[in-house]
Amino acid sequence: MNNQQAKDIVVAFDTANEIIAVSVGRLDTQTKSITVLASKETPAFRASNTKLIQCIDDLLASASVQKESIACVVCGRGPGSFTGVRICLATAKGLAMGCGATLQGVSTSDAQAWQLWEIGIRGSVVVLGDAMRKEVYPVRYELDDAGIERLNSDVVMKATAAVEWVGSSEQILCGDALYKYAELLSDCGALCDEAYWHPTGFGLLLATQALWRSGEIDPFDVKQGNPALLLPVYTRLSDAEEHERQRFAVNQAPEKDLLSGVQGGAPNTPADFVVRYQPLDAAWAESVANLEARVMGSDAWNTVQVLDDLPRSDRCWWAAYAVEDEFKRSVEFGQGTLIGYVGGWIVDGQLQILKIATDPEYRRLGIAKELINRISLDARDLGATELTLEVRVSNTGAHAFYEDLGLSNIGKRPRYYSDREDAFIFTGPLPVSNRDVAGMHLRINESSAETEALSVATEVPELILAIETSCDETAAAVIDADGTILADIVASQIDFHSRFGGVVPEIASRKHIEAIAGVAEECLAQVRIKLNAPNLTWSDFASISVTYAPGLVGALVVGLAFAKGLAFASGVPLIGVNHLEGHIYANKIDQADITPPMVVSLVSGGHTMLVHVKDWGSYETLGTTLDDAVGEAFDKVAKALGLGYPGGPIISKLAAQGNPKAIKFPRALLHSGDLQFSLSGLKTSVMTYIQKEQQAGRELNQFDIAASFQAAVIDVQVAKARTALEQTGAKEFCLGGGVAANPALRAAYEQMCEQLGVRLTMPPMSACTDNAAMIALVALDRYKQQKFFDFTCDVSAHAPLDEAY
Ligand code: KG4
Ligand code: ZN
Repeated sequence: MNNQQAKDIVVAFDTANEIIAVSVGRLDTQTKSITVLASKETPAFRASNTKLIQCIDDLLASASVQKESIACVVCGRGPGSFTGVRICLATAKGLAMGCGATLQGVSTSDAQAWQLWEIGIRGSVVVLGDAMRKEVYPVRYELDDAGIERLNSDVVMKATAAVEWVGSSEQILCGDALYKYAELLSDCGALCDEAYWHPTGFGLLLATQALWRSGEIDPFDVKQGNPALLLPVYTRLSDAEEHERQRFAVNQAPEKDLLSGVQGGAPNTPADFVVRYQPLDAAWAESVANLEARVMGSDAWNTVQVLDDLPRSDRCWWAAYAVEDEFKRSVEFGQGTLIGYVGGWIVDGQLQILKIATDPEYRRLGIAKELINRISLDARDLGATELTLEVRVSNTGAHAFYEDLGLSNIGKRPRYYSDREDAFIFTGPLPVSNRDVAGMHLRINESSAETEALSVATEVPELILAIETSCDETAAAVIDADGTILADIVASQIDFHSRFGGVVPEIASRKHIEAIAGVAEECLAQVRIKLNAPNLTWSDFASISVTYAPGLVGALVVGLAFAKGLAFASGVPLIGVNHLEGHIYANKIDQADITPPMVVSLVSGGHTMLVHVKDWGSYETLGTTLDDAVGEAFDKVAKALGLGYPGGPIISKLAAQGNPKAIKFPRALLHSGDLQFSLSGLKTSVMTYIQKEQQAGRELNQFDIAASFQAAVIDVQVAKARTALEQTGAKEFCLGGGVAANPALRAAYEQMCEQLGVRLTMPPMSACTDNAAMIALVALDRYKQQKFFDFTCDVSAHAPLDEAY
């Protein structure tokens, strides 16, 4: 960087709606003001991920600004289209990290109010954002010469309900909900000029300036403006969570199935039980009341009070259960004991804790902290930013606990309790746990790199970063030009999906945006240490690579937008990688010399394929599944047995203790002569067997069922792999995908390869499931071929492996 050049530029953008709004300004620290240098709005029509970087680049050029002078990136946090907001945030996180700039978020609604202020509008204004599904995000403001005042926190409501909420008076309406509801809202006030129904870059900068002047943000403060911390505004849970909440609130016929709850979060748990966390189910209301009676004295709620509170739309409850360890449990699968709960009320951007208790016998296990973490995560998605609660003045242990969570004692509520004891009021920012990254544990895979760098490296090797977000793991890895993996990190979201019995796309996208910057930062930190290059930055990298296909669109988009922002800011080329090709390359991790032609079996929750690798980059899919994927079959059988998700690991553990010949399950297409698979018949057959046994009143032998099911899967897998090897004449056989972690399958392949005189390669367990090291290995080949993607590229849910890209 040129030392003469000031780092005083701010770049702001918003893609929460159908418009890409971008603005570039100059920050004046003396007056805390922002001078707008250029500003532009471009229609995006659901394509902001392909157009945004170009829009930013063009605007920087028109303002004659160099990327090196960017001190601060600002992005609109919504509310708006979830994907639109995430594209904005992901790009902004990448851009800020690549420029070494801070990242600040502003409300998309505030930016719109400021825009109206700028054109001279004063008085009452209501901004109405389109929330889809016949809903809107209304915010009321008062505008005077001094600026804007926001009168309510973010909420979502039906457009018809908004008519009453907005009322009818001398007020001006704006926001993109007007495109749909102008007529519906026509009696509520005057519509502003249509040019301001969407946010403008100018409005974003004015909103930023206001936050700067009020001291809420500092565009130059790297700690406060850490890109990893910024999150979107949602105002509602994902549909899966919301439906679960509604179902649980009225659940009068309990199954009390606890196996799919979130496990863990109680680090001190003794070995004979696990703690599982779930939103509170009405079936447990009586248990809550019992525990209340034990610990709350005269302030205890009874069952009716709990049942009355649960279904309210502004309430949120979580519970902790002690469940016996899976393998010690025999008959009563899923039975457990309620050992703690928390209930809260979300109002005006605050989570007010109504109830929190843990069973005295289960104290000091970290349960209360995890309950607070869980309820805070939900409250945050529902629009809360703060937490408030009352604590007995005499409960000094609790005071310390809440202070530890970052809350402060702000005063007393006299005679708050029924026994006339005073309460202290504790309040503070929502204490969402920062356990590793975004509430997820990081898995740091041991990499093969030597760690013997002695002096500060003067020459950094060529490095490639890889990002992977195609499903439910947020992963990043760094590789050097020799193919040495220098960092390999995975943040698994499994805790957030398991209770739904599978990956929930909206939750996956939400977790990716939370974790992506932190995971990438951690990778950089590790490489700095490994290479003894403390000043290494993203601009020192040779390329940034990312999985662009196939996978969940909303999840892929986060990784791609982040990678684009980072690559653009660092001035390095972007490489797109096909995820399935990554699984093939994962075999290189432990066996660098594998050479095509090879046959690869890819078996995961979403894929079942036999691939002929003719050459690196040249693939022929020999066969796939006609219905369920292998991993899916494991998961469904596990579910039928009342086991948790994912099912593969549990089934394979049970199978190890069972008799694979005990039950004859079908081996579909075993003799079909082709290389296609079909798993749904097997799955149905297992389920029918379970039903029959149960109807006959016989006790299920989980071990034999698991072993017999697994054997049926393996028989077909091995037979088809054998045919594929014979047909292609390949002398190398490789594996990939989560199911490749199955020990019995591995053993069967070992035997088969020995018989055929074929070399078997299996990725290390950690590289069978999704990871970014495998993406980095593909990217390295692409880099050597100088095959780059441009910034207009898009994700693809179904890009076939056989087509070159
Ligand atoms: O590759 P992966 O992590 O994610 C995708 O589906 O892309 O694979 C997860 C799948 C799940 O269906 C899980 O049940 C299965 O792999 N799996 C296993 C085993 N470990 C994981 N299946 C059988 N045996 C295992 N040991
Ligand atoms: Zn995968």
